[in-house]
Amino acid sequence: MHAILVASNRGPVSFTLSSDGALTMRRGGGGLVSGLTQVARHTPMLWVCAALTDGDRSAVRDAPGGRLDLAGHDTGPLRMLDIPPATFHRAYNDVANSTLWFVHHLLYDTPNSPHFGARFRREWESYQDYNATFAVALAEEAAHGARVLIQDYHLTLAPAMLRGERPDLRVAHFSHTPWAPPEYFSLLPDDVAAEVLSGILGADHAGFLTARWAAAFMDCCEAVLGADVDRAARTVRYEGRTTRIGVHPLGVDGEALLARAGEPDVAARVKAIREAVGDRRLIVRIDRTELSKNIVRGLLAYREFLHDHPEWHGRVVHLVFAYPSRHDLPEYREYTAAVQRCAKEIEDEFATEDWDPLILNVHDDYPRSLAAYRLADVLLVNPIRDGMNLVAKEGPILSPRCALVLSREAGAAAELGEDAIVVNPYDISGTAVALHEALTMPEDERLKRGRRLSAAATAMPPRRWFAEQLAALPDGPADAG
Ligand code: F6P
Repeated sequence: MHAILVASNRGPVSFTLSSDGALTMRRGGGGLVSGLTQVARHTPMLWVCAALTDGDRSAVRDAPGGRLDLAGHDTGPLRMLDIPPATFHRAYNDVANSTLWFVHHLLYDTPNSPHFGARFRREWESYQDYNATFAVALAEEAAHGARVLIQDYHLTLAPAMLRGERPDLRVAHFSHTPWAPPEYFSLLPDDVAAEVLSGILGADHAGFLTARWAAAFMDCCEAVLGADVDRAARTVRYEGRTTRIGVHPLGVDGEALLARAGEPDVAARVKAIREAVGDRRLIVRIDRTELSKNIVRGLLAYREFLHDHPEWHGRVVHLVFAYPSRHDLPEYREYTAAVQRCAKEIEDEFATEDWDPLILNVHDDYPRSLAAYRLADVLLVNPIRDGMNLVAKEGPILSPRCALVLSREAGAAAELGEDAIVVNPYDISGTAVALHEALTMPEDERLKRGRRLSAAATAMPPRRWFAEQLAALPDGPADAG
């Protein structure tokens, strides 16, 4: 039995299965996982996650009670849930990533989608089953009065379900995404919208990355549930219970990042990039190829910048690292193709024999990303909407002389906006102007801002972020006395 438990869809590791049946373990990716992995190294806790791949399922089958650590894997205490693949697919791809993600990031092309018909109802049932599987596993593993921290939009129903099973537990939920305003959240069928909100309100504490997303959640609770919201005290009272709303702006462990970026594999990539681009100035972007990241408009802005500023031809290169993401979803495959098409158009239009204006890489290579940060003169982070965006925080730590062009719709803008060049992510011309401003910003100004950006980025490293949420849970079992 465990006193601290964490639950998330993606876990700290994932396995691939080769044709001869051998399993290869890889560290999981993304902001949530890298933050929690650092926490897990220093905190005695059980991590509960879903099996995502055939390799994961195979590893779980050989692990007693799904405990991969007890099967000899070097994971730390980890229980992986083998949810039936069709249920998992509907919960993860259809509901979490194609519905809730789209709602919170305002991604729908509303004349054509969403369609909430009979098919969606089947998907929603799977999402309920998936959440129930987590709730049951957490209830089995938690010691009396234990504290359970449930993560993200995949698991919005689990807090209320877990409370139903184990009223003694102290439960927190944390949203790593933005939260939609009520008019957009209400695209969801009324009963589904209410279930999502009341699911999270099953927690004692609901955490968000910024005050803006916390406010949107409270607005939705009031508009959809008619809950009693106290915005000054940040509490929501619903069906006789009170949930406290917290703002915990996840940051970066600067020392660990600097140490990793000082390793020889990064130095080798710094050298390779320098050889490829010479002493030209670098505009860098690093993203998952994710619809919300707005990569195509970023490329169009670079194209407009090159049109408007022929004096920069031959003197600047745009490094675009757009790593694969969610390729089970057709929208994501099409988006990757659109990024590639747009990059090719820029090359066709501007490349000369001795100048490649843009280098696009779609294969994940973490040390190469760190090398790009180190070399960046400008970092472009222009999401349509983003919970936080840790790229905007990592860049200034590794290159304090780099100017940051940042979308006002990224959660990070709340902390970094004053020292970044802030853009409207839909305004391509405005972004082109910002790129020019960033490239021509005097060195001392860039350094001054870079130091402040770096300080803000490291203000809330993952361990502190986690400790704050644990501390926000009341002491002792919920059913005591
Ligand atoms: O923003 C929420 C989040 O969980 C991030 O922490 C992470 O980068 C991303 O979504 C991961 O998505 P997926 O697990 O689908 O790759």
